[in-house]
Amino acid sequence: MRIDIITALPQIVEGPLDQSILHRAQEKGLAEVHVHDLRAFTTDKHRQVDDYPYGGGAGMVLKPEPIFAAVEYIAEEAEGEPDEIIFLTPDGDVFDQPMANTLSLKNHLVLIAGHYKGIDQRVRDVLVTREISIGDYVLSGGELPALVLVDAVVRLVPGVLGDAQSALSDSFQEDLLDAPTYTRPAIFRGMEVPSVLRSGDHSRIAEWREKERRRKTTRRRPDLLQDSDT
Ligand code: ADE
Repeated sequence: MRIDIITALPQIVEGPLDQSILHRAQEKGLAEVHVHDLRAFTTDKHRQVDDYPYGGGAGMVLKPEPIFAAVEYIAEEAEGEPDEIIFLTPDGDVFDQPMANTLSLKNHLVLIAGHYKGIDQRVRDVLVTREISIGDYVLSGGELPALVLVDAVVRLVPGVLGDAQSALSDSFQEDLLDAPTYTRPAIFRGMEVPSVLRSGDHSRIAEWREKERRRKTTRRRPDLLQDSDT
C-alpha cells in the first residue's frame, strides 16, 4: 500500500513514521509512506502556502495551487490516480475501526493535512474524495490526525503485525472492547494473574476473554452493544 501525506509542516509527521511498527512496515515493503512539503510545490518567490481569507476573518487559508500541484505530482509519480484523496478536518466523518478496515484494503491513499479552518474550499470541492475527523475536538492542524489514520490503517495491512490474530482481537474489532492482559510475574505486589489464564486450557481461556470483553463493554461503552448485530 502507498500513502502520500501533503503538509506544510513535514517535520511533524516524519519522526513518528520512522519508529516502531510504521517503520518496520516500510522496511518490509508492506507500506510506502511519502511526505510532501507543500512549499516544494509553490512557484512564487516567497514560497507562500497560505494567504488571507476572502471576506475577512481569523487565521490563514492554505492556497489551492500548491495542493493541486502536489496531487498531480503524486499521481504522475505513482503512475495512476489514488484510490482516495482524504482531507483531515474536524467537520469530517468521524474515524472508527470499520473505516480503518476499509481504507486498509486500498492500494493508494493521499492525505491532505491543513490548518483548522484553513484550506481553500475548491480543494475540498473537486480534489478531495473523503473528509475525515479523528474525533470531536479541534487540533491545530491535520498532521497528527494524518498520523493517527496512517497508524490505524497500516497495522491492518497483512504481514505488518507479527501475530496475524492480534489485530482481529483488538478493541472495537467486533464492537467489543479488548479483554485484560497480563504478563509475568504471576503474583506482583500481592496481585494475582487470574488462574484461568495460567491453566493452559485454551477453550476456558477463550471463554473467559469473551466474558471479560462483554463485561467491560457493558460497563464502559454500552453504546457499542446497542448497534451490534450480536
Ligand atoms: N484538524 C484539526 N482537528 C482535527 C480533527 N479532530 N480531526 C481531523 N483533522 C483535524
